[in-house]
Amino acid sequence: MTEPAATPPPGCPAHAGATPLYGPRFQTDPAQLYRELRAAHGPVAPVELAGGVPAWLVIGYRELQLVTGQPQLFGRDSTRWNAWESIPEDWPLRPMMTPVPSILYAEGEEHVRRSRAVTDALSDIDPYELRKHAEEIADRLIDGFAGRGEADLVAEYAHRMPLLVLCRLLGPSEEQAPVLIDGLLAMLDGGPDAPAGAQRLLGVMLDVVREKAEHPTEDIASRMLAHPAGLDHDEVMRDLRVLLIAGHQPTSYWISNAMRLMLTDERFAASLSGGRRSISQALNEALWEDTPTQIFAGRWATRDTQLAGQRIAAGDMVLLGFAGANADPSVRQPDGRPAEGNRAHMSYSYGEHGCPFPAQEAAEVIATTAIEVLLDRLPDLRLAVAEHALVWRPSAWVRGLVALPVSFTPGYQG
Ligand code: HEM
Repeated sequence: MTEPAATPPPGCPAHAGATPLYGPRFQTDPAQLYRELRAAHGPVAPVELAGGVPAWLVIGYRELQLVTGQPQLFGRDSTRWNAWESIPEDWPLRPMMTPVPSILYAEGEEHVRRSRAVTDALSDIDPYELRKHAEEIADRLIDGFAGRGEADLVAEYAHRMPLLVLCRLLGPSEEQAPVLIDGLLAMLDGGPDAPAGAQRLLGVMLDVVREKAEHPTEDIASRMLAHPAGLDHDEVMRDLRVLLIAGHQPTSYWISNAMRLMLTDERFAASLSGGRRSISQALNEALWEDTPTQIFAGRWATRDTQLAGQRIAAGDMVLLGFAGANADPSVRQPDGRPAEGNRAHMSYSYGEHGCPFPAQEAAEVIATTAIEVLLDRLPDLRLAVAEHALVWRPSAWVRGLVALPVSFTPGYQG
């Protein structure tokens, strides 16, 4: 692959000392890295992506609210990026930044239209039905390893559970769901089968949309097709794909990050058998300390501006540093922790492109059920390796474990 030249934006000497947004530090101790960035640059830090590509990383809580709350100044459409001309075709992050016509990159009226259809379709999810699906799926996955006395909770549980639940909600049939799941997981793995996986996923999505247009049922696809926003088949297909990907990956890492906390932190020890600190506290704490989307790309400046003393040029890439903003001392108590019960983290982002509220509610039902059923079925669950042997994914974008090996009494039926 040809590496793009390191081209700091004109008039921005700060990028000469930019911090690389790759390498082992995100895997080992990102919290320390954010502290160093804040000490060196304040709430908005110059960073460089693979190949020396410059960007700004927003790690101030207030500044992140300003960026996500002002779409007229920090737009979602990445076509306005001022670095596109120097980006080679095979740049590994290209798929992450390339705009596709969907709710994610839409702006203004077009975003309002698509967002209404998605949000209304999600609002009609019956939480009791959702809980029932989630319990059934959790039980089925646990059946697959309960007799063994050991499991990897990432690969065998957290990495599959939200996807299976979302499939039930979205609309694919019993036959289509496995093809879709297989395609999505291949795509997210990023291996040689990734492009073919992405194609299989799109193919199934298109079939689902065509079938639901003719025979609507009680699911998200049918509700989006019937919505007064008048989305066409292609639009529904693309936004269903966003729902599946945006819903699966963060929920999956949220479950395993919260499980890691419960299995390693003394304060949660008793709650494994129904004691002091609750599952909901572990889930909330995981969103503050190990939020699944630690950095997200992003926003692109619509004109020259200033942010926390940094000169941002029109078209500059601005990365949303959710983990950094959550660690901002201004939202922490003197002991470094967020106040008890405080849920005002930035993990769901903020503003019109933030995670839709009914999606947050659904994610909470899925994640809570996943952990409750697991602890019900395997009450003597314990970590099978030393805590320091747990390995995080080598990614600046996702905060999630590579594996979470556990052991328990085989075949325990509660
Ligand atoms: C059922 C599960 C979920 C679904 C269906 C879902 C769906 C979505 C959708 C459709 C969007 C795009 C909104 C737009 O651009 O207008 C979105 C954005 C987002 N979601 Fe979720 N989501 C889920 C769970 C989660 C979880 C668990 C997290 C993290 C804790 C999360 C974090 C985010 C973030 C950070 C964004 C915003 C990115 C931005 O500001 O541009 N989501 N989600």
